Amino acid sequence: MSPYAHITGWGTSIPEKVVTNEEIAKMVDTTDDWIRERTGIRERRVASRDETTASLATDAALKALEVANLRPEDLDLIIVSSSSPEYIFPATACLVQDRIGASKAGAFDLLAACTGFIYALNVGAQTIRSGMNKNVLVIGSETLSRFTNWKDRGTCILFGDGAGAFVLQASEEPGGVLSSVLRSDGSGENLLSIPAGGSFMPASSETVKDGHHYIQMNGREVFRFATRVMAQATREAAEAAQVPLEEIQLIIPHQANRRIIEAAARGLDISLDRFIINVEHYGNTSTASIPIATCEAIDQGRLKSGDRIVFVGFGAGLTWGASVVQWSGPILPKRRIPPPFSYRIWARIRSLLLRLVRRMEGLIWGSHYPDGW
Ligand code: UT7
Repeated sequence: MSPYAHITGWGTSIPEKVVTNEEIAKMVDTTDDWIRERTGIRERRVASRDETTASLATDAALKALEVANLRPEDLDLIIVSSSSPEYIFPATACLVQDRIGASKAGAFDLLAACTGFIYALNVGAQTIRSGMNKNVLVIGSETLSRFTNWKDRGTCILFGDGAGAFVLQASEEPGGVLSSVLRSDGSGENLLSIPAGGSFMPASSETVKDGHHYIQMNGREVFRFATRVMAQATREAAEAAQVPLEEIQLIIPHQANRRIIEAAARGLDISLDRFIINVEHYGNTSTASIPIATCEAIDQGRLKSGDRIVFVGFGAGLTWGASVVQWSGPILPKRRIPPPFSYRIWARIRSLLLRLVRRMEGLIWGSHYPDGW
């Protein structure tokens, strides 16, 4: 029988710096009242100069491993979902692999914008269900503040930075990720994008001058699309898992706009009390929003082992999706594992040694090249 993919560890990394609506109102023509009324957002977190998508992802990853009682070298695969990766390449997941010292893990990035965490969770879960992997780390991490035009009131009010991570583990015990619905519609490519810096519009002084390296969004259209798909995807995921909506304890939606979540609740005829909403304090952290909201639900005692929940989201692409999950919690017995900072130190030493060995090999092999090479 194929093993089940359980969520056994979780962690977040939230930048300390808070930017309030009042502060934004000093930069663009807007007000705290307008932002709160139209989005439900009061404040968001913004990464400091030395925080990046990889550093936030690494922090969240180490916390998630600690909860799961797992060591980095136990990991088989790391998937980072991000719309604001450290580089175009290499993958941010490889940087996380190096920084936590996950010596046996494959690593890649997945781009499905704000729906990315749901995509990554399902890809990770399927590698477990197929028997290929036992321990998978799935991370959503964003520093969208670096791609935000702080003079564009249509976007700068919305986004925030942060990261969240889950550990997925194989177990014969039924539960974990029960279903997934992943959808896309690329005809909406122009509704939400960062147009420059890719192969279509390579970065140049012109693209920077024209601000094409910033997030561009048709907010109204994205809003309409979101309100259409959130309830529908939730229903489809529940049907696929054969779990009636009444038996779903909690819905953890992508945190983009309180009004979108309210519309989903109306569409499903489910009370808002059964939704986790924290957009007020973090804004839209894109692919990190679902794991951050999940960790908050756990901290508040709203999510317990055995609960059946739905993750549902939408984003650029266009993409949308949902998953039904039976919540597990740690499955390994508590054991003495070194604290996260010791992994960081060991991983740093390991990385330096690997770089040194590569250098030495270069020197040795360099002298063996035949003349003229
Ligand atoms: O993860 C996915 C990411 N994206 C989203 O989720 C975005 C989804 N869309 C939204 O959340 C909403 O569309 C926004 C919050 C972006 C905008 O709210 P809205 O209620 O759809 O406003 P609107 O775009 O229809 O604009 C209404 C008015 C416009 O003025 P006029 O044309 O009626 O005179 C805008 O120019 O509000 C104006 N406006 C603002 N006014 C004050 C737009 N942004 C602002 C602002 N402050 N920040």
